[in-house]
Amino acid sequence: MPVQGLTPILLCLLAMWRILTPVSSYPQHSPCQLVQKTAVCNNGKLSSMPELPPENLEELQLNYNQIKTLQDILQYPSLITISLACNGLEKVQPNVFQNSKSLENLNFANNNIHIGYEETSAALRKLHALRFLDLSENELNDEMAFSLLQNLSSLEYLNLSGNLLRRLDETSFRDLHNLKDLDLQRNRMFEIDSAFGSNPKLQRLNLAFNYLPCLTDFNMTQLVVLNASYNSIEWFISRQDLNETFQLETLDLSNNRLLFFPFLPSHSRLQNLYLSHNMLRFYEHFADNSTLQNSSVEFYNLKKHMKNVTAQLWDDNLHGDISSLDTLDLRGNQVDYFPDGFIKKMSSLSRLRMSMNCLETLNLTSEQFFGSLYELDISNNRLNQISADDGSLATLGNLTYFNLSRNNLEELPFGLFSSLPRIHSIDLSYNNIGICRPDEINTNVSILTPCLQWNKIESLRQLYLKGCNLETVPTSAFTGLSLTHLELSDNPGIDVQDSLQSLSGTLQHLGLGNTQIQDVDLSHFRSLKSLNLSRNSLSHITSSLHEIDLKVLDIRDNRLSTIPSGQAQSLASKLHTIFLAGNTFNCCQTEWFRTFERAKTVNMVGKSDIECQDGPTRTHKLLDSQSFSCSAPEESILWYILLLVPICLFVTGVSIVVFLTYKPKILQTSIKKKYLKPTSY
Ligand SMILES: *[C@@H]1O[C@H](CO)[C@@H](O)[C@H](O)[C@H]1NC(C)=O
Ligand SMILES: *[C@@H]1O[C@H](CO)[C@@H](O)[C@H](O)[C@H]1NC(C)=O
Ligand SMILES: *[C@@H]1O[C@H](CO)[C@@H](O)[C@H](O)[C@H]1NC(C)=O
Ligand SMILES: *[C@@H]1O[C@H](CO)[C@@H](O)[C@H](O)[C@H]1NC(C)=O
Ligand SMILES: *[C@@H]1O[C@H](CO)[C@@H](O)[C@H](O)[C@H]1NC(C)=O
Ligand SMILES: *[C@@H]1O[C@H](CO)[C@@H](O)[C@H](O)[C@H]1NC(C)=O
Ligand SMILES: *[C@@H]1O[C@H](CO)[C@@H](O)[C@H](O)[C@H]1NC(C)=O
Ligand SMILES: *[C@@H]1O[C@H](CO)[C@@H](O)[C@H](O)[C@H]1NC(C)=O
Ligand SMILES: *[C@@H]1O[C@H](CO)[C@@H](O)[C@H](O)[C@H]1NC(C)=O
Ligand SMILES: *[C@@H]1O[C@H](CO)[C@@H](O)[C@H](O)[C@H]1NC(C)=O
Ligand SMILES: *[C@@H]1O[C@H](CO)[C@@H](O)[C@H](O)[C@H]1NC(C)=O
Ligand SMILES: *[C@@H]1O[C@H](CO)[C@@H](O)[C@H](O)[C@H]1NC(C)=O
Repeated sequence: MPVQGLTPILLCLLAMWRILTPVSSYPQHSPCQLVQKTAVCNNGKLSSMPELPPENLEELQLNYNQIKTLQDILQYPSLITISLACNGLEKVQPNVFQNSKSLENLNFANNNIHIGYEETSAALRKLHALRFLDLSENELNDEMAFSLLQNLSSLEYLNLSGNLLRRLDETSFRDLHNLKDLDLQRNRMFEIDSAFGSNPKLQRLNLAFNYLPCLTDFNMTQLVVLNASYNSIEWFISRQDLNETFQLETLDLSNNRLLFFPFLPSHSRLQNLYLSHNMLRFYEHFADNSTLQNSSVEFYNLKKHMKNVTAQLWDDNLHGDISSLDTLDLRGNQVDYFPDGFIKKMSSLSRLRMSMNCLETLNLTSEQFFGSLYELDISNNRLNQISADDGSLATLGNLTYFNLSRNNLEELPFGLFSSLPRIHSIDLSYNNIGICRPDEINTNVSILTPCLQWNKIESLRQLYLKGCNLETVPTSAFTGLSLTHLELSDNPGIDVQDSLQSLSGTLQHLGLGNTQIQDVDLSHFRSLKSLNLSRNSLSHITSSLHEIDLKVLDIRDNRLSTIPSGQAQSLASKLHTIFLAGNTFNCCQTEWFRTFERAKTVNMVGKSDIECQDGPTRTHKLLDSQSFSCSAPEESILWYILLLVPICLFVTGVSIVVFLTYKPKILQTSIKKKYLKPTSY
């Protein structure tokens, strides 16, 4: 009988398995390290709970193992924390935690709880002290998540990010009365309907990277941080009829589809408002002559019941309370003007980021910024006019950073920057503003001029004047300044040598890329750390760099053919970073490349793009030095051939002459030989 024959073999295998199993799952060397009351058993290839001395153990770390099921009752009565992230964990048997009364923190991140969520739910329900639960990345859908969360009324922190949740309603977090921090990032949510009514303590809510189309009727007065970035939100409307002060401090609605400035609560402590990368603008100017003034918006949701939110869309007064704003980030929108009194409402604003909008004018007098303003970025707009007067400039006493780069400015109030006592960084790049000659100096700060005077601005440290069409820079342009950064790149033909000398003591970064500069003496610039000389047709690196302790050198896109070995060694010994691509080096003089390669402290940026030329047309990547060799065999053969040809011709010529002279004799002898030769047959 085949079955009877098999049985002993099976029994034998079973016995062997019994002998082997304890060895593999309880190796003699414990996979855990005990540090005081913590057992660290991460990365141990464990497939079940290790055995540990039970007394006093408070924390158990089992991340990155292969524990698929938790089944035996845990016998660590003082256990507070278990971390089982990244195990492929599928389920926890219902009784596992029945003796773990003090367990507070449970980390199940990055597992497969979706497989055995029902058993796991039953196990979690035994944890009456549970405060932190991380269920992120477990492929949980709505039903599974809500089942897992039933009765977890002690929970304070919950992480459900990276799951498959789609819709939240009033039952979703019904039992989580103590919840303070909820992370719902990276799910697939498209609807939230009265979901947080049972969570009066919720303070931090992260909804980033979902598919929400709007947030209306926002009434969570206790919330402190709301992150709804990276959704498809077109409307954010808070309940306007609440008299309570919202505790909201940070609201992130960046990377959505807002068309309107969000309708913020009427009373709030909002400090940080992030609205970058939306499509918002203000519409009051449009509505001046239209009949749209009293429009209302209707919202439908999937249950087909409708909500009527009446908002006077065109009324720019509907911004809510922005009086405590500290940071307003509006980068990447379509704002073309500020409504009347908008700026004036933000009496504590310190950072205004308006880069990439459509502003055409800025009247500092009428906008009435407050003295709290610290950073103002209006780069990348369409500004062609800025106006200001003594009074408005005097209020900007705290302004430190002012970025106006990439606008269409051709004139500015003469005293715009020199009236700012704390100004530290100014970026005027890519405008058409010059530097005044001494005879062009004005005394009236509000008068508009096409040039500015820099040498009176004592607080200034960083000045960026790229692409301003600068040509002659007066010798005294920077005297008295303690600039650390000066960017003059993209001013082709600028004549700057004399004016720079006054900065030799302080300058740390100097940008002279694309200026057609030929040689510049930097030997006195003892503080210089970073130098940009890219795009200048330079055929050698200025020798004055020997004497300074440069760290970063950008010399891309020039005409270097080699770097003399002495210079390469000197640079390699101090540079941290060098940019060299875009030069056509000589393949036969690449010792410098190995010098830089050998010096482990130098980062050759874009190393794989550096090329050399051998022969008139052939270029090679310097990095694969096998592909070319400098002895250039083909080339030398050509030379040999060229040398040998005349010699050969000469020798051939002589031979012919000799041959012809002795021809009859040789002919005769050869005929004789042929006919006297004995035959083989
Ligand atoms: C949740 O707790 C309530 C009482 O606190 C209890 O009646 C109910 O059975 C519990 N539900 C589950 C699913 O354990
Ligand atoms: C939630 O979990 C995700 C992924 O595990 C993590 O990136 C995120 O930082 C966690 N959230 C919080 C608030 O700790
Ligand atoms: C917020 O509004 C929802 C309905 O939209 C309501 O159920 C809830 O009680 C409100 N919460 C507060 C704090 O007013
Ligand atoms: C909101 O969440 C996104 C995505 O996680 C993050 O990049 C951003 O910094 C968060 N915003 C705030 C204000 O913390
Ligand atoms: C808010 O206050 C106004 C008057 O101060 C009052 O008429 C209104 O009923 C209050 N609204 C709520 C929701 O308490
Ligand atoms: C408002 O009306 C004036 C003339 O009636 C028109 O020139 C202007 O374009 C209108 N404004 C807008 C934003 O439509
Ligand atoms: C808008 O409504 C107000 C009263 O709410 C009314 O006085 C005004 O005439 C209305 N405007 C238009 C254009 O309908
Ligand atoms: C919303 O408001 C409009 C205009 O006021 C009204 O016609 C409509 O019936 C309202 N809808 C609901 C659901 O209340
Ligand atoms: C700037 O605003 C002030 C005050 O509102 C006004 O007097 C001045 O004419 C405005 N300047 C320009 C150029 O519009
Ligand atoms: C600068 O800011 C400080 C505090 O932030 C404030 O006390 C001071 O008045 C401000 N200066 C000006 C000129 O407004
Ligand atoms: C000014 O803004 C431009 C464009 O937004 C940016 O590239 C540049 O780095 C900024 N300048 C400074 C000094 O931060
Ligand atoms: C400065 O110029 C403006 C405009 O040209 C003028 O209104 C103002 O009176 C002048 N101020 C002084 C002090 O001359």
